[in-house]
Amino acid sequence: MGWKTSGESWGTRIGVILAVAGSAVGLGNFLRFPGNAAQNGGGAFMIPYFIALLLLGIPLCWAEWTMGRYGGLRGFNSAPGIFVALTKNRYSRYLGAVALLVPLIIYMYYVVIEAWCLGYAYFYLTGELMKGAEPQAYSDFFGGYVGSGSDGFLYETGRGRVFYFLIFTFFLNFVLIYRGVSKGIETFCKFALPIMAICAICVLIRVFTLGTPNPDLPDQNLVNGLGFMWNPDFEKLKDPRTWLAAAGQIFFSLSVGFGIILNYASYLKRKDDVVLSSLTASSMNEFFEVCLGGLITIPAAFMFLGLSAGQFTGSTFGMGFVALPNVFAMMPFGRFFGFLWFFMLFLAAITSSLSMLQPVIAFFEEGLGLKRHASVAFLMLITALGGGFVVYFSKDLKALDTMDFWVGTMAIFVLAMIQSFIYGWVLGIDKGEREAHVGAHLRIPRFVQYILKFVTPVYLVSIFVGVLWFSSRDYFESLTKNRVAGMSVAFITIVFLFLLLLTHIAGKRWETEGRFAEIENEK
Ligand code: ALA
Repeated sequence: MGWKTSGESWGTRIGVILAVAGSAVGLGNFLRFPGNAAQNGGGAFMIPYFIALLLLGIPLCWAEWTMGRYGGLRGFNSAPGIFVALTKNRYSRYLGAVALLVPLIIYMYYVVIEAWCLGYAYFYLTGELMKGAEPQAYSDFFGGYVGSGSDGFLYETGRGRVFYFLIFTFFLNFVLIYRGVSKGIETFCKFALPIMAICAICVLIRVFTLGTPNPDLPDQNLVNGLGFMWNPDFEKLKDPRTWLAAAGQIFFSLSVGFGIILNYASYLKRKDDVVLSSLTASSMNEFFEVCLGGLITIPAAFMFLGLSAGQFTGSTFGMGFVALPNVFAMMPFGRFFGFLWFFMLFLAAITSSLSMLQPVIAFFEEGLGLKRHASVAFLMLITALGGGFVVYFSKDLKALDTMDFWVGTMAIFVLAMIQSFIYGWVLGIDKGEREAHVGAHLRIPRFVQYILKFVTPVYLVSIFVGVLWFSSRDYFESLTKNRVAGMSVAFITIVFLFLLLLTHIAGKRWETEGRFAEIENEK
């Protein structure tokens, strides 16, 4: 059938794999993973982590790649359209709005952290971050730089240095997105991923050759540093929150349940492999996460800060932006390695944030009929509003944390549930399996289809209920007690309603164009 397509496509097979791996490898691997593991039982955390990888992460990646290509071949690149193609039900497009909300809101705070990383790389170049051994200097610096002391702090004259980095980062993202899937995202990821790997390996070698940095404190050595991170505490496995944290980490890290893979895979051709490509991208992500993220930050912090490194492991940003700069200042050639580290984080973040913009751009173009420049301008306006909101409500990073919980954890679970339901129960595992294997370079064992149909949804629902049970009471309370938390949720709700409205308008357009009829009449 002659489906109308966007005309965008990936240039090479390795290009699309690197783009998906680029989306996956990000701040989650280097900032979120080490803290999560150390806090939830060290080596023991890897048990629920790998179970979640095998039962949720890898199967759902295969499902997303398969569904994305399926929708793309029927002329849709955005989740609302792809869902209609999969379900043959025009109303399912409204579920697709969740797959626009997730990347859009996450982008709004992710880009802010990305700008922090760029700023930190710059401050190593200028030497400003070499502040000696005193830990307090680093938390004061971080607090002033991100404005965590009070709301509106950064908007006061002379305090908004972060805006230079934010504006640069913001424009860089949009310039790359404007260039399109192949020329922008694919080209950038092809360069960025190898550079990231080289930078991270250099920092890893530096950390592994530090020996015992302070001869007066012989216990603070590499082996004990690794032990501090990895010694298993099996007691933690009895706590359901450990299982929740592991599953949440897998989703965030693999970019599953973001609507991203759905969109990226929609630019594939019919005979392009999805099975091996998906597995390769996931494996790359695990290498960056476990072998690089897991071996650098916490062991390094322990070697210099000893047991007090533990006070940072619970806080993603405390470890990344406070403890580590303290460590770099104390190690030989720390200024150079500090620069490499934060520059690597910046690249890792950019390849991920690009992937959060593309699903929404695709929707504006195919759903609202906007040209590239108009869709980019429209999205810039929306994300600038969101980014401005996050930067303004900077006290204790409340807006950022609230968005991260409600969207970066909860909405991701919701979207993953929707996707697993559509794959397992609407498209059906027999059709899904046939579709996945078109052009495949590897066979997915049959039992994975049963996992997708039965185990994944049950696991997801249990986790979701678990999250609601264990953590959301605090969050619900904080919504009523904390004005900014409440406003952040109101903001997310408004954005969602707006996306639903746009999805409705897109549906009218697709109806007039006869695209629904085309899908519904497909044999
Ligand atoms: N997958 C991306 C990360 O890990 C979002 O940061």
